[in-house]
Amino acid sequence: MVSGVPPVPVPALRPEGAARLALGLMRLFDWGMDARALATFLGQVAEAGVRVLDTADIYGGGAVEPALGQAFRMDPGLRSRFRIVGKCGIRLPSSGSSKVRVKHYDTSRAHVTTQVEQTLRHLGTDHLDLLLLHRPDPLMDADELADTVAWLESAGKVRSFGVSNFRPAQVDLLQSRMSAPLVANQIEASLWRVDPLLDGTLDHAQRMGMRSMAWSPLGGGRRALPALAEVLQRQGEARGLSPSQVALAWLARHPAEVMPVLGTGRIERVKEGVAAMAHVLDREAWFELLEAATGHPVA
Ligand SMILES: NC(=O)c1ccc[n+]([C@@H]2O[C@H](COP(=O)([O-])OP(=O)(O)OC[C@H]3O[C@@H](n4cnc5c(N)ncnc54)[C@H](OP(=O)(O)O)[C@@H]3O)[C@@H](O)[C@H]2O)c1
Repeated sequence: MVSGVPPVPVPALRPEGAARLALGLMRLFDWGMDARALATFLGQVAEAGVRVLDTADIYGGGAVEPALGQAFRMDPGLRSRFRIVGKCGIRLPSSGSSKVRVKHYDTSRAHVTTQVEQTLRHLGTDHLDLLLLHRPDPLMDADELADTVAWLESAGKVRSFGVSNFRPAQVDLLQSRMSAPLVANQIEASLWRVDPLLDGTLDHAQRMGMRSMAWSPLGGGRRALPALAEVLQRQGEARGLSPSQVALAWLARHPAEVMPVLGTGRIERVKEGVAAMAHVLDREAWFELLEAATGHPVA
């Protein structure tokens, strides 16, 4: 199945005329927005050209999805301006009525189905545009999961399916049991985490025709590498870009057409990000940044 999988278009992540950038909602509760402010912000995000929202059942301890649903209810036209990417498969111990003692992964039919239905209820929508399995589960029964996904797709609850933090071999296993293509793998990739660009992950995604989504594309706001910060600053000054824009342009330059999932709650930074994706870095600039990130020149 694997070698026979043809490259597929990824309509869920390639909305007509939109920016190749997603907005992630993991940090929603750092933004200090009530439902109305969130609805206004998301309207501005859509206006800026971003058409993909990334969320997960566990974000904010489970409270992000209901908050997003409240924002959608404030502005009934808002939900349809976005493709929504949801995730499930992680179970967190929590207080209250939860019976979970140990953080673990759960890709069983019962858990995945329950979580998708809960997400749809929270968001007040009838479908997710893309469902991702949040983390590779060592106890995953690939046949059962493939069946579950096929059922969710046929029921119209999920338009397409993908994975997150999967290695190529884990993608291959799951794909070998599925009739529909896995359309995306969301991984940590940035100048602060260059491995997926060098270890075959992005090459494999291109061969499979999968969209690579990059979480924490700005390293989660970290600026811990002084040599990298210096090169980002210098290259940015030479191009009229901010250091963060140079970091996004570095990801954008990769032929895998990576989709960064930006985690900011500030509209000016979203617009900056959209503009950065159109900037093409030359090879020397790209490799200079790689060298600053890894601490050594390429062999
Ligand atoms: N699949 C997974 O396992 C996984 C794991 C982690 C995250 N994610 C997804 O990835 C999304 C993004 O992750 P992230 O928040 O770590 O990404 P990020 O965009 O690398 O980091 C966002 C943080 O950087 C700060 N920041 C500083 N300068 C910025 C600038 N110029 N532009 C934008 N942000 C700037 C933001 O603060 P301000 O808000 O003040 O701008 C925010 O605190 C999450 O929301 C989630 O959807 C997925």
